[in-house]
Amino acid sequence: MKRVGIIGVGKYLPKKILTNADLEKMVDTSDEWITTRTGIKERRIADKNEAASDLATYAAREALRDAKIKSQDLDLIIVATITPDMQFPSTACFVQKNLGAKKAICFDVSAACAGFVYALVVAQQFIARGTCANALVIGAEKLSSITDWKDRNTCVLFGDGAGAAVLSAVNSGGILSTYLGSDGLNTNLLIMPAGGSRHPATKKTIAERLHYIKMEGNALFKIAVKIMAEVAQVAIKRAGIECKDVDLVIPHQANVRIIMAMAKRLGLPPEKIYLNIEKYGNMSSASTATALCEAVGAGRIKKGDIILLDAFGAGIVWGAAVIKW
Ligand code: ACO
Repeated sequence: MKRVGIIGVGKYLPKKILTNADLEKMVDTSDEWITTRTGIKERRIADKNEAASDLATYAAREALRDAKIKSQDLDLIIVATITPDMQFPSTACFVQKNLGAKKAICFDVSAACAGFVYALVVAQQFIARGTCANALVIGAEKLSSITDWKDRNTCVLFGDGAGAAVLSAVNSGGILSTYLGSDGLNTNLLIMPAGGSRHPATKKTIAERLHYIKMEGNALFKIAVKIMAEVAQVAIKRAGIECKDVDLVIPHQANVRIIMAMAKRLGLPPEKIYLNIEKYGNMSSASTATALCEAVGAGRIKKGDIILLDAFGAGIVWGAAVIKW
């Protein structure tokens, strides 16, 4: 089995910024409530003409440049998203078209906020077994398209963006361990009820606002704190290291209170936790992907550093990866 590593990263954040002050004019909320309960100050909103594949393509181009490889050299493109351009074909196929990545196998992964880590682990299998040489993994979301802008419980939380990574076989370092898991008993906690085969679009589903994110935030919060810490511990143990050996954690950015509670449980100081939730909110699969790219760009990750990706999301699903940079 080949050792697999990330050889390039990229990101794309739409230019339009929606601040907490803007949201105060849309629903009964306040900057004070949003900031203290979530850590979010603003989020990005994609243009109405932009779909998830467009955001994904911009991030992918940056990652390919960073990796110094051509799109024609890609054997695999996986897009993690809960906001695909369409029910079918896959968003990855649209990205393939945009990039001209003719020989790539393309498909999407649906694992909500853990989607980027899931896609990373899937791509790792293809490369480790020698089926593919170069893989492009993208977390891309246009959550603004499934956000109910009349529901203050959810609309303050989400944003749009995309992050990408190019994976290849490496001689040293790379992915040291991974851990994925799911709990289908808790599907009800975070859901978009209509638009699939259970409730296809009808006038009734539209009138009942069933094509938007519905979330039981408080129940999810408690589970998230526990899962984020446990998942990290399993991945760290599998890598044969200890918590103190981790140089930087790239957590899913759902809520700063969840992230800090996780850090406390792991005994990690705040400076070892990368945060971008303040600027972007929760971008589901794009959160860990963009945070990874930003952390590299900001010099927070250097060659030889041990980093931990740690995410959870709707399903419920969770995923972690320990990577030596
Ligand atoms: N502004 C003002 N008040 C609000 C707002 C708002 N935007 N939203 C809710 N409230 C009110 C509620 O109505 C409630 O009022 P009440 O006490 O009069 O009933 C009060 O604030 C407290 O509500 P809670 O839901 O208990 O607030 P909580 O502290 O739990 O924070 C939050 C809510 C931020 C949603 C939190 O529960 C959370 O972050 N949950 C986890 C979210 C998450 O992790 N999602 C998973 C990943 S996302 C993915 O996979 C796509």
